[in-house]
Amino acid sequence: MTKLLQWCSIIAALASLSCPTFSLDSINLDLEVLEEIDLSPLGTPDLSRFEAMYNVSVDPTTCQYEIKLSWKKHAEDTPGEPMFQGSCAPEDNTGNAGDGLPWHEQRRHWVQFPRYVFDATGFDHLSMSFLPCGRNPGLYKQARYDLNFFTVIPQYRTFMRCETFKTPKICQYNQTEFIGRGFFSIPRLVRDPNFLANMPNRFQPDPEHPEGFEHEGLTHYDPTRVTDNPDEWVLPDFLMSTYDGDVISWRLMFPYNFISGDASSVAGGDSWYVYQTMPRLPTQWNMTYDANSQQIDVYVYGPAGMCGQSFDAAKAEQEIPIFEDPLAGGGGAGDNGINRLRA
Ligand SMILES: *[C@@H]1O[C@H](CO)[C@@H](O)[C@H](O)[C@H]1NC(C)=O
Ligand SMILES: *[C@@H]1O[C@H](CO)[C@@H](O)[C@H](O)[C@H]1NC(C)=O
Ligand SMILES: *[C@@H]1O[C@H](CO)[C@@H](O)[C@H](O)[C@H]1NC(C)=O
Repeated sequence: MTKLLQWCSIIAALASLSCPTFSLDSINLDLEVLEEIDLSPLGTPDLSRFEAMYNVSVDPTTCQYEIKLSWKKHAEDTPGEPMFQGSCAPEDNTGNAGDGLPWHEQRRHWVQFPRYVFDATGFDHLSMSFLPCGRNPGLYKQARYDLNFFTVIPQYRTFMRCETFKTPKICQYNQTEFIGRGFFSIPRLVRDPNFLANMPNRFQPDPEHPEGFEHEGLTHYDPTRVTDNPDEWVLPDFLMSTYDGDVISWRLMFPYNFISGDASSVAGGDSWYVYQTMPRLPTQWNMTYDANSQQIDVYVYGPAGMCGQSFDAAKAEQEIPIFEDPLAGGGGAGDNGINRLRA
């Protein structure tokens, strides 16, 4: 075990010398024709399964962004047993969940954000999934929803491959290729090795069984918040992931039990980061569930990279009106302010 950790820190030390930001050391996108890259490994390129809508806005006085994401509870989302028991046993012979897919199968749906969203929030695209069995660590092994906000482009993620093992599939620790080893390069500070840049205090990969997922990166979390009792997880929480020495995603998760009762619920949280060089990372979030309409609204807030007139102008120009109002005559007016995610 200690060996692996040492190995991680050596790689990380090397990585952090050369790359304070996005390094592309192992994946050189300059040599790729982006349009020709097959994005299918990332899942379905729309949020149709959730019929989700988003609206990104920026408060002109505080210059804080707000990402609002709304959707309705989906009847086919059947939860498996917590803690990888029963139907969720980590073997590939426990049949299928209510939606007809194996319990641990990926159910990733994603949407590309327009440029103005990246400029304001630092997020390039959003991947959304229902995980009937959840995933490590600890109490997150229960039915849950993940909203995974990526700072890198989808094409970059397609190259994040590794030799895998286990169910659900994670990267083996003995990767022989640079691309696979990139999962285990973490943004550890040379002079302050207890901290990982751009993550909250105490965030780290699992010390015994670090989990790297293809196309998603290495999972980091705060071990002091994670127990082995699934009943203790009731509020939304977040994890982060890195690849090749950089933070690449911010993952908001909430347990299925947040939206499974008869009662409406509200929850929120906040966060700060050590050695932050990515200034737009979220600082606050909250969510509401309305038991009558079964609507889920998630809000994520952070310091915007662009506000006021420049934001408004960029948003107006880049938004693709997807609804055409036949009465508006000639189209173009569209549904101002919100993107109906492509169905
Ligand atoms: C990596 O480890 C797995 C066992 O966990 C083994 O089957 C595989 O052969 C190893 N690969 C290399 C390249 O050593
Ligand atoms: C969510 O957080 C924002 C920012 O702190 C706050 O303005 C808003 O009222 C909160 N909403 C709910 C439903 O708690
Ligand atoms: C998007 O959010 C902004 C700011 O809260 C609001 O003014 C606008 O009406 C929203 N658009 C839609 C379609 O909800």
